[in-house]
Amino acid sequence: MAIKIKNEKQIEGIRKSSQLAAACLKHLEQFVKPGVTTKELDTIALEFMKEHGATSATFGYKGHGPIPFSGHICTSVNDVICHGVPNEYELKDGDILNVDVTPILDGYFGDTCRMYEVGNVSQESKDLIEVTRECLQLGIKECYPGNRFGNIGYAISEYAESKGYSVVYEFCGHGVGLQFHEDPEVSHIARKNTGKRMRPGMIFTIEPMINTGKARMKVDKSDGWTARTIDGGLSAQFEHTILITEDGCEALTDVYGDF
Ligand code: MF3
Ligand code: CO
Ligand code: CO
Repeated sequence: MAIKIKNEKQIEGIRKSSQLAAACLKHLEQFVKPGVTTKELDTIALEFMKEHGATSATFGYKGHGPIPFSGHICTSVNDVICHGVPNEYELKDGDILNVDVTPILDGYFGDTCRMYEVGNVSQESKDLIEVTRECLQLGIKECYPGNRFGNIGYAISEYAESKGYSVVYEFCGHGVGLQFHEDPEVSHIARKNTGKRMRPGMIFTIEPMINTGKARMKVDKSDGWTARTIDGGLSAQFEHTILITEDGCEALTDVYGDF
């Protein structure tokens, strides 16, 4: 399918939804502490979205499997790569947590995720988080009209692998805005100068998932969603929603400039 070019009205709507997504992650900061359950964080995020007139795109979302997603956010701890289902798990000192939020505001979707450190985390965790943050930034640097999508994945994978990490290939970034997941698929591991060309008005996510061990994942049978590293190694992720502009790009979810 062709990649949609969004018009001014749509861009403004997606910008607002993206800003709300970013604000939700900011709001959660104060609640991420040892002892809080991921389910409690889910409720707080839901309340925040509701107060701002939005609903959650993840709740009831049907992926490829038979079980609809039961959370209003994804909460992915330690070896969970993504799609962690909020539950009774209590965060503990030393955990690393990813929260991914996708509000629907006036029909428009914004999508972003970031890492949180729970209490004091290991140097191994800090290093992984920092490199993953840098991977997203390197991907964003490749976003300008005329450049090819493969260069995003090339930049990310070259850097991550140079640091001794692996890049998850079973999940990708994606077009976003009018629907949750639109074309194109944005791979985080790719060959240089491959793929379609970026054009002004395209909106898509970049959301690298970087592992300390092997790249492969397995999905928990119990909930049909939670994707873990195959070897129990740590995984980190950051995500922004990106608009291609006439002369570069705008990271619509990068509101606070702190990740
Ligand atoms: N927000 C995720 C993404 O970045 C998708 C989550 S789908 C869910 O694409 F069903 F797991 F919530
Ligand atoms: Co996404
Ligand atoms: Co997301």
